[in-house]
Amino acid sequence: MKHLSIALIPGDGIGPEVVAEGVKILRTIEELDPELSFSFTEFPWGCEYYLKQGKMMDADGIDQLQNFDAIYLGAVGYPGVPDHISLRDLLIKIRRSFDQYVNLRPVSLLDPSFTPLKDKSDKDIDMLVIRENSEGEYAGAGEWLYKGRPEEVVLQTGIFSRKGTERIIRYAYEEAHRSNRTLTSISKGNALNYSMVFWDEVFEEVGKEYPDVETYSYLVDAASLYFVSDPERFEVVVTSNLFGDIVTDIGAGITGGLGLAAGANINPEMKYPSMFEPVHGSAPDIAGKGLANPIAAIWSVSQMMDFFGEEKWGKAVLDTIKGLTVEKENLTPDLGGKATTNEIGDRISEKLQKLI
Ligand SMILES: NC(=O)c1ccc[n+]([C@@H]2O[C@H](COP(=O)([O-])OP(=O)(O)OC[C@H]3O[C@@H](n4cnc5c(N)ncnc54)[C@H](O)[C@@H]3O)[C@@H](O)[C@H]2O)c1
Repeated sequence: MKHLSIALIPGDGIGPEVVAEGVKILRTIEELDPELSFSFTEFPWGCEYYLKQGKMMDADGIDQLQNFDAIYLGAVGYPGVPDHISLRDLLIKIRRSFDQYVNLRPVSLLDPSFTPLKDKSDKDIDMLVIRENSEGEYAGAGEWLYKGRPEEVVLQTGIFSRKGTERIIRYAYEEAHRSNRTLTSISKGNALNYSMVFWDEVFEEVGKEYPDVETYSYLVDAASLYFVSDPERFEVVVTSNLFGDIVTDIGAGITGGLGLAAGANINPEMKYPSMFEPVHGSAPDIAGKGLANPIAAIWSVSQMMDFFGEEKWGKAVLDTIKGLTVEKENLTPDLGGKATTNEIGDRISEKLQKLI
């Protein structure tokens, strides 16, 4: 019997609504598999907590999370709390404290009708973006000098360590090698003459260890164009923190929107808990109305199962999501349907039970 203890951080806005559906699916898996069990502990952290307590999470929050196997997060951020506080003091703090240096964001088209692109099928858009998640442009290093004065200067420093750059690139080569796919690096060496020239060099260096992996290297501006004009060029993609954040939103745009974009923040060595979360934010415009699409959050459950070696459940959840979206009878309004968040969770749970 395998047991996973899961910390739930539903967070703000639609976060609690989509996390509830992900937990529904985990409970379904638990019912269907006598070899698997889960326990859930919920934490009330987020912007509402900040407005009452003056902090996004408890001072010893990282210690409290340390012994869980996984963290399942909804979204953080809400009007009234500056975004740089909500993001940095909770989400980025967890990612960095637990050295979740790999961010896995699949960009796969579930049904041709979901893409605004002409004549693209699921075969054309099926990639895995591997984003560096612990340093780079989001390292939080910099300075704000002479604040409010005419000579005001701000510095935002990108940090690219050899260890950090090599390990993410090596992870991506391993994935491309294991799955027999091409690997594309996205960088910007022509303008960022230190960080991205270094990135490109490391990409080439590590590549010598993987002669079987076919590689490509694009500037981020060209890559952004190709995401739209030729998404079939990409299979496994590796890129920095900022560029990964941006290109995966383009990825969401070409596959049906943020309601379908899943993500996993991984500490591959399992020294610390990994965190699974949809890519989207708290969507204040639709929060509390039952309009949120929970598929991104449920897809993250599939990633969680894969990460813990339960690939049969990872595949079953993903196949069920695909089945549901292709049928088109039950879709949330972002995909042109009328179903509620709760109904989508129920349908996926029912389908999963029939599949097994
Ligand atoms: N990982 C995170 O927690 C995270 C990520 C991005 C933004 N944020 C925060 O969320 C807040 C809102 O940010 P934003 O509006 O730029 O981005 P957002 O992702 O919350 O919403 C962007 C648009 O996509 C729609 N959308 C998002 N998720 C959806 C879903 N599951 N189903 C249907 N529609 C969905 C929203 O209605 C909105 O129109 C901000 O405070 C921001 O800082 C948090």
